[in-house]
Amino acid sequence: MSAATAAPEFGPLPRFPETWRRRHLLGLEDLSAEEILTILDTAAAFKAATGGFRRKLVELQGKTSANLFFENSTRTRNSFSLAARRLGADTVEFVASGSSLSKGETFIDTAKNIESMNVDVMVIRHHTPGAPLLLSQNVRCGVINAGDGPHEHPTQGLLDIMTIREHGRRFEGLTVALVGDIAYSRTARSNIWGLKKLGAHVIVCGPSTLVSRRWEEFGVEVAYSLDQILPRCDVLNLLRIQFERQHTRPFPSVREYALLFAMNRERMARAKSDILIMAPGPINRGLEITPDVADGPQSVILDQVTNGVAVRMAVLWLVVGAAARA
Ligand code: CP
Repeated sequence: MSAATAAPEFGPLPRFPETWRRRHLLGLEDLSAEEILTILDTAAAFKAATGGFRRKLVELQGKTSANLFFENSTRTRNSFSLAARRLGADTVEFVASGSSLSKGETFIDTAKNIESMNVDVMVIRHHTPGAPLLLSQNVRCGVINAGDGPHEHPTQGLLDIMTIREHGRRFEGLTVALVGDIAYSRTARSNIWGLKKLGAHVIVCGPSTLVSRRWEEFGVEVAYSLDQILPRCDVLNLLRIQFERQHTRPFPSVREYALLFAMNRERMARAKSDILIMAPGPINRGLEITPDVADGPQSVILDQVTNGVAVRMAVLWLVVGAAARA
């Protein structure tokens, strides 16, 4: 059989970690470095065990995962659905627009009604910080935060960290810069908690209207010039400017932002040759990153999306498994 037609190699299935107890994943702030590494190792094992998600498993057969999305999503919602199905689970897709919320049903009543369909785990995205915590206090099933306003997006942080690790980088001594809209970014917060716990040096960089000095209290370097920090960076994570969360424009013009903070060809020439270029998506092409950099050889943006399925398989399996063992 030629290499082109050879069947994909499947790695062994992960063993359920004895130490894992969490029935919910609400953020990375509360997790230990060991718990983060457990999720990353489990995700890598599922990626290998499915030959890159080609094979369907039965680890969650008979279980049901419900996506409760009160905010738009492309990557997170689809990858949670795919992850659940790759594990053999059934899925329920709740989307706020078109639901009975418009008839006055409350958030908690909505969730309890969906839970009554024998749901084992709920994946929630909501514009209000703390909504996943509130949900976890009112339902019996597991709850996974898929992004709550500007607070946390733990699976995004985990898939970013998995992608850095998969590209052979060690966290001790690694310099990771989060560039752009730190003030409104749940991705920034989850990356900061996760990367700091694993020993990386984290820089937050952007206009002073979007980057507070207060981040220094959490052991994060604060910078206002991308050009000054660029030569030291091993990884750049270019965050989207979230116009929809801002009450006033935080800089005079998007052109000015791009001049000061966009990663472009000229800046790539001054960066480390093996720098990793990341973005959580969606990206505003030309604003945070130019197309030649987004699609260039140092970009791992689509690897992040692929690893999102692996991370979400791991989190679903761990959270549902913890409930079964409680
Ligand atoms: N990165 C991310 O959360 O993308 P979506 O909003 O498309 O889910």
